[in-house]
Amino acid sequence: MYLQLSNPYSMKTSFAQGGASAQKSDGVALFFFEDTALFTTQSAAVRAAFPASAGNFDSGDFTGKKGSVAQCYHGSGKQTKRVYLVGLGKSEAVSAEGIRRASSAAARAAQRGKVKHISFEVPETASLNTTEISEAIIEGAVLGVYAFDKYITKPADASKLEAVSLCTANKTIVPAVKAGLDFATKVSQGVYLTRDLANAPNNEIYPETLAKRAQAAGKESGFKVTVLDKKKIQALKMGGLLAVNQGSVRPPVFIVMEYMGGKKGEAPVVLVGKGVTFDTGGISIKPAPGMSDMKIDMHGSATVIGAMSAVAKLKLPVNVIGLVPSTENMPSGTAFVPGDIVTHMNGKTSEIDNTDAEGRLILADALTYADRYKPQAVIDIATLTGACMIALGSITSGLLGTDDVLKSRIKKAAQRTSEHVCELPLYEDYEDQIKSDVADVKNSGGRPAGTITAALFLKKFIGDYPWAHLDIAGTGIAPSAGPYSPKGGSGVGVRLFVDMLRNWKKDGG
Ligand code: BES
Ligand code: MN
Ligand code: ZN
Repeated sequence: MYLQLSNPYSMKTSFAQGGASAQKSDGVALFFFEDTALFTTQSAAVRAAFPASAGNFDSGDFTGKKGSVAQCYHGSGKQTKRVYLVGLGKSEAVSAEGIRRASSAAARAAQRGKVKHISFEVPETASLNTTEISEAIIEGAVLGVYAFDKYITKPADASKLEAVSLCTANKTIVPAVKAGLDFATKVSQGVYLTRDLANAPNNEIYPETLAKRAQAAGKESGFKVTVLDKKKIQALKMGGLLAVNQGSVRPPVFIVMEYMGGKKGEAPVVLVGKGVTFDTGGISIKPAPGMSDMKIDMHGSATVIGAMSAVAKLKLPVNVIGLVPSTENMPSGTAFVPGDIVTHMNGKTSEIDNTDAEGRLILADALTYADRYKPQAVIDIATLTGACMIALGSITSGLLGTDDVLKSRIKKAAQRTSEHVCELPLYEDYEDQIKSDVADVKNSGGRPAGTITAALFLKKFIGDYPWAHLDIAGTGIAPSAGPYSPKGGSGVGVRLFVDMLRNWKKDGG
């Protein structure tokens, strides 16, 4: 397996036969459970294989406590191995999320220790199956060491982890380990792609280059990409996308991605991602402090592209369409202005109250376009409202929608991936806030319940299909690094979507 996309930094993942002491890598990691009996047996075995670990145990400093990482050395000179003892806490309470975090902590410590290749011995426990454990180790380690640093000219001593292996001396679990390794590698590649796109500045990623990167991902991963240019967007009468684009020199694009891995004729699931490559606010311009974060305002589109890529590599048996309306939101002499009335693709009109409420205008047209697929479900994902960041912070995405089955699929996936979502209501009582005197709807409902009124705006443009909306304004643009995610574009939504689609049949009904 080989992890390399646009990021010049590459990461290899692999399986290696044998226990940790048989590995040739310059770093090894060993997981421990805190249960007294288990810890005693494990530490005795590790002490025998790596005698320098004795101090970690004898001092009582390392007890297998959840999230703890201790280090010791094995061998000497150039052959010195860095050995990481990693605590998982009590075995009955161990979770995939606990393993992801522990594995990330170990990989980050190894990277600080200039380790190039770390081998994790896969632990076994009754509480989780080996495939789940293997997935969690790879996801935690690979995702945890990601950095968007390709523009930093490196000092000579800069060292990055280059390879992660899973190893075991237990031959009977090898197929399960390899299955987990394969899945997590492909999902992590999707997350890397999403993070690379989300974090790229506007002078690298603007509508045309976003489309090029989607095409490259389609070629590499195996899905079809069609890019509609401004002429086609005009012919389709996508008035929202055209209005937001009006102040820009760079033209808009509408990207259509198709992966048909399911049964022929089976209705597809459509994923729609907001692709505002930079949001100045337009004429309703944003204040300068923090405006640079708005290079990440296309995170939703990056999530859809990364998820499409992972789904195609995994060859999941589902039909999935990805749709990305993309433009900048710029102020200029040609820009749209408050008071303008826009006619959308479905013929409905919206009054522009605030040009900074641009995401919903471009998503409106994409939700109309989605209807031509007669989809079994449509989910849009967008850095849509500052209000969602205020309500739920950077930990939880906002979930709103019209269909309980679809929302429950998303909630189940959220639980399994720990990409948290929290449902907000779509009560029609809030609609007064977006009533317009001169058009069918107004594009801003003011500050109160901003996430809800934005979703109610979108609801006016959905077709006859089950629909859900994810607001990732807080979770997509992270103010600081997470347990296995970087500061900035977090990659949120890729694991969520892949997990939901992977369990589509099981979670249905
Ligand atoms: N892209 C922003 C939302 C955003 C803000 C995401 C901060 C991440 C961090 C969106 O286009 C926007 O500007 N929304 C406005 C809507 C308002 C004018 C109704 C907002 O949230 O203030
Ligand atoms: Mn905006
Ligand atoms: Zn925006």
